[in-house]
Formats: sequence, C-alpha cells, structure tokens
Amino acid sequence: MKEQLENLQSEALREIEAVTDSKVLQEIRVKYLGKKGSLTAILRGMGSLSPEERPVIGELANKVRERLEEALSERSEAIAAIEEERQLQAERLDIFLPGRKPKIGHAHPLQMVMEEIESIFLGMGFSIAEGPEVETDYYNFEALNLPKNHPARDMQDSLYITNEILLRTHTSPVQIRTMEKLYPNPIRIIAPGRVYRRDALDATHSPMFHQIEGLVVDEGITFADLKGVLTVFAKKLFGEDRQVRFRPSFFPFTEPSAEVDVSCACGGKGCRICKGSGWLEILGSGSVNPVVLKMANYDPERVSGFAFGMGVERIAILKYQINDIRVFFENDQRFLNQF
Ligand code: DAH
Repeated sequence: MKEQLENLQSEALREIEAVTDSKVLQEIRVKYLGKKGSLTAILRGMGSLSPEERPVIGELANKVRERLEEALSERSEAIAAIEEERQLQAERLDIFLPGRKPKIGHAHPLQMVMEEIESIFLGMGFSIAEGPEVETDYYNFEALNLPKNHPARDMQDSLYITNEILLRTHTSPVQIRTMEKLYPNPIRIIAPGRVYRRDALDATHSPMFHQIEGLVVDEGITFADLKGVLTVFAKKLFGEDRQVRFRPSFFPFTEPSAEVDVSCACGGKGCRICKGSGWLEILGSGSVNPVVLKMANYDPERVSGFAFGMGVERIAILKYQINDIRVFFENDQRFLNQF
C-alpha cells in the first residue's frame, strides 16, 4: 500500500507539472483528491491493514495529500500567470498600424454648382432670397403676367394641389414676393430653389429640378446692365475664354427678353454637347415687364429692372458634360465620387 501511495504521488505530481490550463488542473484535483478519487479509494482499503501498519500508512497518506494540495496550489498560481499572458497576447494591439480614416463625403454636385453660382452673384453685390415651394396661382402665374390661357398653366404641365395652389413650376414667383417685401427699395437678389413640373423622369426631364432666379430693380437699370452682369457671370462659371451671346426670345414677365448662350468647349466646331451648333443655351432673361413691376407697386416710370432664370441641372450638365439628368438623383457613388 505504501508503494501504491508513492506511485500515486509521483504520477499525480508529473501530471500537475504538465498542465497549463486551470480547468484541466481542476479535473486532476478531482481525479486524485475527490470523493471518488484515487487517494480516497486507497484510504478506503485501509480497513484491511494490520493495527501496526494503519498509522504508518495513515500518516503517509496525509503527507501525500498535503504534498498534492501544495503542488496543486502552486501550479494554480503558475497557470493563472500563464493564462493572463495568453489573454494579453490574444488582445494584443499593434499601436503602429495606421488608423482607419473615417470616410468624409462632400456636397452633392448640384449643391456645389449651386454654391458656385451663388458665390459669383454674391461677389457682384447680390443677396439671396427664398420663397415657398408650395405656391399660389397668383404668385406662380398671375402676377408674372402669365395669362389664364397660357400653356404653362395647363393641369397637364403643372402639379396642382387645388385649383389655386400648386408646386411652383419656376422660381420666378420669388420675384414678386421679394418686390412686395422690399418695396419701395432697390432690389438685387438671386433666388435658388426646387421647382416641380408634371414630367416623367427620363434622360432630359425630371419632375423636380432646381432653378436660380435673379432680379434687379432700381432707378436707371438698362438692358446693358443685364448684358454686363450675365456676361461676367457666364465667363466666371464656364471660363474667361468663352463667348456669350444674347438671342431675342419671349417671356410674359420680361420685355424685351433674351436667351443667353455661351460658346461650347469645342470652340464652335460643333460637337455632341452643342449638337453641332457651337453654342450652349444657359438661361432666360429680360428687362422686367412694367406690368410685373406694377403688380408689386413699383412705378415703372421711376424704376426699371432685369431678371433671369436658369436651371441648375442644365448648367451642371453643360459644365461637366453629363449626358443624363438621372445621375443627379440616383446617388450612385461611382458618379458622386468624381466631384
Ligand atoms: N421662369 C422661366 C422658366 O422657368 C425662366 C426665366 C426666364 C426666368 C426669363 C426669368 C426670366 O426671370 O427673365 O422657364
């Protein structure tokens, strides 16, 4: 039995020494010292020993137990240190790895073009005015000298909410609202914003798009002021090397009216962008119709003015040679990231 105990001790010590895991160590403790463990089993057999042998073996068994307890607790401490080290290795951070840069986006290309246009006019002393997108028939049509039978007023072309209320079809109603607000002071504003028309989305149409309106009202304003301001604007936006031309046109709220073209980047040779003409139409304009001035109480005998309106999508399409208006609204990063 003495031999059994000695064998048990050396076997157990060897196992304890080899463990590196606290769970396995616990299993070893149970295996040797547990209620059903090998040491307990040996002690149970002590009944068969002679009275002389019993205390000797009993003492030896206690020594073995103490020795094993000691070895287990020593090993347990060592394992705790090993496990902590293992955990530290697993959670190791490489502080020299370059950080992941957060992706910071930028303004939408339409917003960028709009801001560029705004800053050109702000630089010429204009300020920015706004008006509602849900507009009355009066401001959208009537006060702008768009007669009751004008085709733009057709239910088929505009998005009506009631007979008298609709989504504005252009930013021109801001002209009237600004004149009412600033009367009798001189005016020099631009009015950017969304406009709506009953159009299906295709390569060249969108039911919602953006315009920038302009209005100048003061004593002594002439058509020459219109030409000067819009020429400076077009050259600043498209490049000083571009030519600007004014073509006679018609709008109910301006008289006379002109459409403004800028020469194409192809240099007038004619290309796909200008459809062979060498010119790009960028906006409508004209001297403010005296009828419109009177609508907002301004005296056409004392003051005069000019107005203009442009489509922001159209300007962006021409400036960046884009061939489909839908790219502005699809939020495809392959397009947006190019700006
Ligand atoms: N409101 C016009 C449109 O939507 C654009 C326009 C033309 C505005 C001439 C103007 C202007 O102020 O003078 O087609």
